[in-house]
Amino acid sequence: MIIDKFQRIHTYLRISLTDNCNLRCFYCMPDEEYEFTAASKLMQRDEIVGISKIFVSLGVNKIRLTGGEPLVRKDAGDIMLALSELPVKLTLTTNATRLQHFTGTLQKANIHSLNISLDTLQPDKFLLMTKRDHFREVKDNIDSVIQQGFHVKVNMVVMKGLNDNEINDFVDWTKNFPVHIRFIEFMPFSGNRWTSNKVFTFQEIMERIKTTYTTTEIQSDVHDTARSFRVPGHKGTFAVISTMSKPFCAGCNRMRLTADGKLKNCLFSKEETDLLTAYRNGQDIIPLIKQSIQNKYAALGGQMNTGFENLHAEEIKNRSMITIGG
Ligand code: 5AD
Ligand code: SF4
Repeated sequence: MIIDKFQRIHTYLRISLTDNCNLRCFYCMPDEEYEFTAASKLMQRDEIVGISKIFVSLGVNKIRLTGGEPLVRKDAGDIMLALSELPVKLTLTTNATRLQHFTGTLQKANIHSLNISLDTLQPDKFLLMTKRDHFREVKDNIDSVIQQGFHVKVNMVVMKGLNDNEINDFVDWTKNFPVHIRFIEFMPFSGNRWTSNKVFTFQEIMERIKTTYTTTEIQSDVHDTARSFRVPGHKGTFAVISTMSKPFCAGCNRMRLTADGKLKNCLFSKEETDLLTAYRNGQDIIPLIKQSIQNKYAALGGQMNTGFENLHAEEIKNRSMITIGG
């Protein structure tokens, strides 16, 4: 069992397959020229499987694959198939640009639940936010996987003045489609131009939605990072992830493994533990995993004790989102 000082049992591992991506979302990629990690420094397929097995032996029962964009990695399909042999619930976070090539593999690998990033329903704004003109492929792929019966959550990072005027368009999408929208408060990461006045809070999101819709809350699980709602009569649902205004760290059960094999005990942790080097040297990584989780802070990597309104992004020590993997 992997347990921390606050009796939180850690059963959920998120593995980044690569820090490479074919989009350039400004809130995720650092501003300056960014060099993707060399392939030799990334965990190889067998290393991912070997390390995952050790986590499973310690009680992990859910693995999510993330990026960058996991599906730009050449052996992403092989990795999914290999991990599908383990007794875990396997899921994937993707930008959906390449999803049409993977639906068969996903089904074979028993991946039925997908988290897809999409921050706007307007093609020109998509280009502005991602610097790539792929809106049509992404939207068509999302519609297609919903139709094929995948459970689809759409992550929409809400930024004041940029896309908060689209919140109700996303809610409208849930009317006729079983899609699960997740509005995420904008979070600070290295080089992502975060300022507190760009955060559109849980409360603001709910107020905006209530101008147009009646909502009812759906009971959530202790480990959930979101509060979920439904508009009565709609096929889909929506949820709000209030990391900045109201963090949900008390029920946290997650650990993150970066593509270069470093364990982060929190999305906002400064410290990381190099599991890959130890694993390559034939060292027992179990004590390293347990120690890392023992060192976990109660909330937000111990870095945001002031309330987000008073936070200055440059005071936070962390990686950029693209090298963490969401
Ligand atoms: N703030 C909030 N969410 C973010 N994501 C990436 N960067 C940020 C940020 N700065 C989300 C994206 C993606 C997921 C992996 O993380 O929506 O879907
Ligand atoms: Fe790529 Fe996702 Fe980051 Fe956008 S948010 S740059 S799609 S990894």
